[in-house]
Amino acid sequence: MEALVIRGGASLKGRVRVGGAKNAALPIMAAALLAPGASTIEDVPHLKDVDTMSGVLNALGTPTARQGSTISIDASSIDSTEPPYDLVRAMRASFLVMGPLLARTGRVTISLPGGCAIGSRPIDLHLKGLSALGADIEMGYGQISARADKLSGARIYLDFPSVGATENIMMAASLAQGLTVIENAAQEPEVVDLANFLNAMGARVRGAGTNVLRIEGVEALEPTSYMVVPDRIEAGTLMIAAAATMGALTIENAVPEHMKSITAKLREAGVYVVEDVDGSITVQADSRPDGVDVKTMPYPGFPTDLQAQFMALMCVSSGMSVITETVFENRFMHVAELARMGASIRIDGRSAVIEGQEHLSGAQVRCTDLRAGACLVIAGLVAQGVTEVSEVYHIDRGYERFEEKLTQVGADIERIEKA
Ligand code: UD1
Repeated sequence: MEALVIRGGASLKGRVRVGGAKNAALPIMAAALLAPGASTIEDVPHLKDVDTMSGVLNALGTPTARQGSTISIDASSIDSTEPPYDLVRAMRASFLVMGPLLARTGRVTISLPGGCAIGSRPIDLHLKGLSALGADIEMGYGQISARADKLSGARIYLDFPSVGATENIMMAASLAQGLTVIENAAQEPEVVDLANFLNAMGARVRGAGTNVLRIEGVEALEPTSYMVVPDRIEAGTLMIAAAATMGALTIENAVPEHMKSITAKLREAGVYVVEDVDGSITVQADSRPDGVDVKTMPYPGFPTDLQAQFMALMCVSSGMSVITETVFENRFMHVAELARMGASIRIDGRSAVIEGQEHLSGAQVRCTDLRAGACLVIAGLVAQGVTEVSEVYHIDRGYERFEEKLTQVGADIERIEKA
């Protein structure tokens, strides 16, 4: 088991580049199943979740190969429509192969998905959408089987703008007969990126980035080459780390447009954020941030995937703040770990009330999920003394060379092997 040992106190200074977005790369890799032939996807980060998706595709008989940050997927033929349980259990996004497999082959059998333990995370909206397109869905023994000789366009209203459900339905609808309209669709940049990839394959998806998607089904899709959008969650994590350590960090390859909610909240907290002419973002803080309230919301609201990291920042603010989580019902597991470092946080239902402290103190803490792991690393950077963050595999699921990038801009972090 590996751990990160962080000696707190250093300010992050310099330039750092964010990679391609994990949450765009995963659905795009799944979407490559829709087109017979070899698709090439560029700027795919080296992450455990990406390896898991490659494993799923390999197991379906669609071999993947990586060269640097480019992954090619040969979906000339599909040998299996049953993604292996071990891989689906390891990562919820494996479930994104359901729509493409159903649309391309007419059948799929998949186990109920796993992933970060941040709430019950049902899949009812995925199934409701696929069923509206004409799939015959059966559930039992922890598995879901779906069949459809033919998918037909439909009007689908999502009760919640689920990212995964929007993506699964959009992929299936691309090969359905006729028009599909998804109302209350997710508007996340990763959904837009998937729509762009599908359109590059010859799909007809309109309205991506708004809450109504219109997908005119086509007979067949062609393989293509595509570059994944930069990772706004990695960018946001680095912006928060810069603010927390009172540093001056320039983040390259971020899309400022995607960072609006985090930029607004950092500015409200008194942090200096500026978009440079070359598109990079500079974050600078000369004093502790003010306490500000944050509520997570679907895009363009404040992302739930930055809630934990922002909480680490508020733990060292000079005031009170209330962070409300509305997207997932159980995403405060980092609170107990932050408390071990001297944070003062009270949970009240879906809100955490934080009283900022002058300092946190180094402690032994454990990652409970991916973004909680990033939160603890930020807390370790600002804590007095040494923090040891264990169960780092959570961080490796979603951050490429995390401690290496932070070390390059001044952090004192070392990865150690623990018995
Ligand atoms: C994606 C992201 C994840 C992010 C989340 C919300 C990927 C690979 N993962 O996850 O990092 O935290 O969006 O921005 O892109 N829900 C239902 N029924 C469903 C589906 C979802 O009730 O069928 C609920 C979930 O329980 C949750 C909420 O909708 O409370 C949001 O989930 P969703 O948007 O689907 O997240 P994911 O696609 O799983």
